[in-house]
Amino acid sequence: MNQQIVLRPCRRVEGSIQVPGDKSISHRALLVGAFGEGEMEITGLSPAADVSSSRAAVEALGVQTLNSRVNVQSFRTSTTTSDFHILLNSRGVQRWRSPNGPIHVGNSGTTIRLLLGALAGSSVAAELTGDDSIRRRPMGRVVKPLIEMGAEITGRNGGEHAPLQVIGGRLRGRAHVLPVASAQVKSALLLAGLLADGETSVTEPAPSRDHTERLLRYLGVPIASSRNQLSVKSTNIQNASVTIPGDISSAAFLLVAAALLPGSEIAIEKVGVNPTRTGILDILRSFGARVEVSDLEDESGEPRGTVRIRAGDHKPLEISGDLVIAALDELPLVAVLGSAAEGETVVRDASELRVKESDRIAAITDGLTRMGADIEGTPDGFVVRGPARLRGASVDAAGDHRIAMALAVAALTADGETTITGWDSVAISYPGFERDLEHLVVR
Ligand code: S3P
Repeated sequence: MNQQIVLRPCRRVEGSIQVPGDKSISHRALLVGAFGEGEMEITGLSPAADVSSSRAAVEALGVQTLNSRVNVQSFRTSTTTSDFHILLNSRGVQRWRSPNGPIHVGNSGTTIRLLLGALAGSSVAAELTGDDSIRRRPMGRVVKPLIEMGAEITGRNGGEHAPLQVIGGRLRGRAHVLPVASAQVKSALLLAGLLADGETSVTEPAPSRDHTERLLRYLGVPIASSRNQLSVKSTNIQNASVTIPGDISSAAFLLVAAALLPGSEIAIEKVGVNPTRTGILDILRSFGARVEVSDLEDESGEPRGTVRIRAGDHKPLEISGDLVIAALDELPLVAVLGSAAEGETVVRDASELRVKESDRIAAITDGLTRMGADIEGTPDGFVVRGPARLRGASVDAAGDHRIAMALAVAALTADGETTITGWDSVAISYPGFERDLEHLVVR
């Protein structure tokens, strides 16, 4: 993971584009499709390396997937639709077979955590492992509540770290109260709940992304909900076709470039605008950009539309509480916005950033400091004092796709050339990012 890229600044961005399918929803389509019975045609599946990890994982469990139409070029232009299309066929979770060797999830936290929930109640024995980053990330938050349901899971440091071994078996429904809002933990427990005796409920301190609930409901699974609590009972899932919207977390890099570069105006078509994910749009409006959402439609239980943005003021931001959860993966971009704003930008309540693919507070603080920003990490966020005139520098993505792309956006606004090390990590969520950027950039 040491590829380098050299980026030059640009004047503005303009044009329209579609981004690849949503990574979070793509994982769920594959894992829920594998859990269910029958064929699931998936249109707009994300080409992200993380999603390939989920696909390989379900294949290792005996689920068939077939490329029915692949057009990886298409999402890179403004004229055609994203069209990564596969056909999945499963005999259902109860007929998964034990894999021949460990399941390697690469860099994908969503794959390991959601799969663990499903495996816990299956009749399969499996070992789950991943790259260095995955083996450092906290797994106790999923392992402990699953063990409380009767799951047999072991792993390094008392199950806190992968590799994890799971022996599927009978689970008991349980009422879980999560200390941290996490869609991955919530989803793992809901999947386990679909295999458990009795009722399983999950209460979150704040609403995290709800793609699992939406997909399950779309497939006819009854889920009771009230405020931040969801409950499920043992249910068989009958598969159906699913179409995935563009990934707003990928679009975010392009939107932030447009907000930062005066005179910019871009449109992202057919992008997911699920309210649990659109915190970045609220943030961009507070920053001073003009943001409009049009052509709203519902696709497979998820809202999607066209997001148009026009550059405007550069105002400082204060981000905390629920907005942190609705913009969780976009917070490194807030540091880039903050360095262009007049005044102090503060992010708090975001200590989760320290246990993502990298310590994102340390990684973005380090990168932007090298580029001349006045930014300081705090235990649960950061403070940026702007505006700073960013200058090209040699920076490190810390092996983290979102840091690599956030620094690339900063590089577009800097004086001189920026060299980013660890550029290969971009393929984890957004292969083709560079081409999409080139499509919009005006030099
Ligand atoms: C994700 C949930 C979030 C997010 C991650 C993807 C998901 O993680 O940061 O990139 O697909 O459920 P947490 O569940 O740890 O908050």
